[in-house]
Amino acid sequence: MKINMLSSLALVVCVLCFSALIPQATPAPFLFPEAQSTILPDPSTFFAPNLLSSPLPTNSFFQNFVLNNGDQPEYIHPYTIRSANSSLSLAYPSFSYNSTAVSTTPFEADLTIFASNSNKNGHHVVSDFNDLSVTLDFPSSNLRFYLVRGTPFLTCFVYRPTSVSLSTNHKIVSASSASGSNTKFIVKLDNDQTWLVYTSSPTELIDSDSSTLSLKKISGIIRVAVVPDPDPKSEKVLDHFSSCYPISGAAVLENSNTLSYKFEKKGGDLLVLAHPLHLKLLSNATVLQNFKYRSIDGDLVGIVGDSWLLAPKPIPVTWNSVGGVKKDAISEIKSAIRRDVDALSSTESSTKSSYFYGKLVARAARLALIAEEVACSDVIPAIRTYLSDKIEPWLDGAFSGNGFLYDKTWGGIITKSSRTDPTADFGFGIYNDHHFHLGYFIYGISVLAKIDPKWGEKYKPQAYSLVEDFLNKGKQSNPNYTRLRCFDLYKMHSWAGGLTEFPDGRNQESTSEAVNAYYAAALMGKVYKDAQLEATGSLLTALEIQAAQMWWHVREGGKNQIYKKGFAKKNRVVGILWAIKRDSKLWFATAKAKEARLGIQMLPILPVTEVLFSDEGFASELVNWALPAFRRKGATDRWKGFGYALQGMYDKERALEKIRSLKDFDDGNSLSNLLWWIHSRSTSVG
Ligand SMILES: *[C@@H]1O[C@H](CO)[C@@H](O)[C@H](O)[C@H]1NC(C)=O
Ligand SMILES: *[C@@H]1O[C@H](CO)[C@@H](O)[C@H](O)[C@H]1NC(C)=O
Ligand SMILES: *[C@@H]1O[C@H](CO)[C@@H](O)[C@H](O)[C@H]1NC(C)=O
Ligand SMILES: *[C@@H]1O[C@H](CO)[C@@H](O)[C@H](O)[C@H]1NC(C)=O
Repeated sequence: MKINMLSSLALVVCVLCFSALIPQATPAPFLFPEAQSTILPDPSTFFAPNLLSSPLPTNSFFQNFVLNNGDQPEYIHPYTIRSANSSLSLAYPSFSYNSTAVSTTPFEADLTIFASNSNKNGHHVVSDFNDLSVTLDFPSSNLRFYLVRGTPFLTCFVYRPTSVSLSTNHKIVSASSASGSNTKFIVKLDNDQTWLVYTSSPTELIDSDSSTLSLKKISGIIRVAVVPDPDPKSEKVLDHFSSCYPISGAAVLENSNTLSYKFEKKGGDLLVLAHPLHLKLLSNATVLQNFKYRSIDGDLVGIVGDSWLLAPKPIPVTWNSVGGVKKDAISEIKSAIRRDVDALSSTESSTKSSYFYGKLVARAARLALIAEEVACSDVIPAIRTYLSDKIEPWLDGAFSGNGFLYDKTWGGIITKSSRTDPTADFGFGIYNDHHFHLGYFIYGISVLAKIDPKWGEKYKPQAYSLVEDFLNKGKQSNPNYTRLRCFDLYKMHSWAGGLTEFPDGRNQESTSEAVNAYYAAALMGKVYKDAQLEATGSLLTALEIQAAQMWWHVREGGKNQIYKKGFAKKNRVVGILWAIKRDSKLWFATAKAKEARLGIQMLPILPVTEVLFSDEGFASELVNWALPAFRRKGATDRWKGFGYALQGMYDKERALEKIRSLKDFDDGNSLSNLLWWIHSRSTSVG
């Protein structure tokens, strides 16, 4: 899709710390000028009236359910779920792996649930949602579905006595009650699947033909689950946990390295499925190792318990490189900085795009921090002037040709250019890529506030408004923005895509730009002495990094390989990751442009990049895979710089030679930044 093209692309060292001098964590409230978008959909079609007074999610795991006719599927592990014509359908997808994609067949219902005599014209209403759950009501059918991520059962609440039917796009081979039971039924399909149907009160099968069966009028809970494998133990596990159902699930951001899940449930012990990254992060969990469902994200296994504790390894959030720059390299970096800073004022960029403008600002901010690191402080005043000249017009509304506005309908920032044009600013006006664009601005603002604390205090309200657009913890923190606009607390990474219907769900291309957004937010927390913001930013940085390493970085022949050979053999990195698809192509380039595919997962190069690419072995696999594409016609120096930067992790001298001969750099990158990166790598690796 066009809009996404490229989206892909104070130190107030308080020696004598008087409490009265510590700036307040929360600044005066500020909203950019309110404006009416002409392109945004009306949320009242699908959201219940009582939800409309608060900001609404725009990049969520159930976004398709509230766009257009609301009838495109979403992946709610382990099922794809589709709501259409007063019925809810589910499929247990299988995946194919070839050199260009991991994909599943177009949605085909394994089972569809509906009220037997329903009027087929009704649609669902979202009556509740949370980090891990969404509730769909079918008011004209007396049905309510609690869709909780990772639940092996689909749970339907029949709130008035109703006769309920189940149909399939396949053929029913057999349907019967389990021996001696009037609350459990077994349905075998001609695609080899066995589905179990559990009811909370006794009922009976009253009718069944080759594609539909009906249950006698009941009220209460109906649950269906596919039996994941032929092992009879799996069915026993499902039987055992069938009577406890989740109603909703929330995640709590506890501190910089802890996240917890709290499921609201009815009944005994709750069974929810965990993906491979959950398993890495979970502490103290009861894991049913042999109870497995397949998913595009790796095998899902059962976890018993309605409260989970997830703890990623803490990461260093620092302004400068962790290891420091080698002394003998300082003079080379200094002279590059002087040239780059001189060029700031002489090369005027004409961009009005929020994305490219943000990159311009962040690039200059990097120069300031590198200058600080190599003690080249005489250039800092010029950078400070450049940064304030560039940033202020966006914060005070004086920028000619674009600027930030506030959309009240969904509750978030849009730009002047994208208020009436869904393709402008890569779809920023329909809530695509917010973390990418704003992340660059926040990086620039944080650095400027660090070198000029007075400026930082003056623009603090605007700075918070920008960061809370995508990093708001909830209504209590700021009632004007949705909670965590992009970050998915089940998957542990961000989504882009915004309010566009996609059959494969939301997507994200650049994980490194997402990392930049949360890292920049953590730096902002540091500069404003806001421990909460720093902790939230650090936690999401750590999670986004781990998710990138698990699902985007594809290691050679790895034991824990998520993707099967057909895909894993030919790809060292995913291009676009969708909820239920993996592409090797990019929004802006074909799969052949491996130099761009590597680069878009590495830019911008920052101190935290060494955590994202902490494994030299993988860095060399990725570079060796991409290098042949560097000889392609059309492979530019702008992209090559990122490959050489990675090469510098394990082959410093050759990388340095290539970097010194580059003629051009990505618009967010510079020779100074590449030299700083190479010379701050550890020398212990040869
Ligand atoms: C939210 O927006 C309202 C105006 O609609 C404003 O009065 C209020 O101060 C804002 N709150 C925050 C925390 O920004
Ligand atoms: C819903 O019903 C309409 C009209 O009968 C039909 O055209 C459409 O294909 C149905 N949608 C689904 C997803 O079954
Ligand atoms: C790989 O699968 C995708 C999706 O099914 C398909 O569009 C593509 O043509 C396939 N590519 C190859 C090389 O087979
Ligand atoms: C781990 O689980 C045990 C038993 O459920 C519990 O007593 C203990 O407090 C838990 N520890 C943590 C750190 O949650």
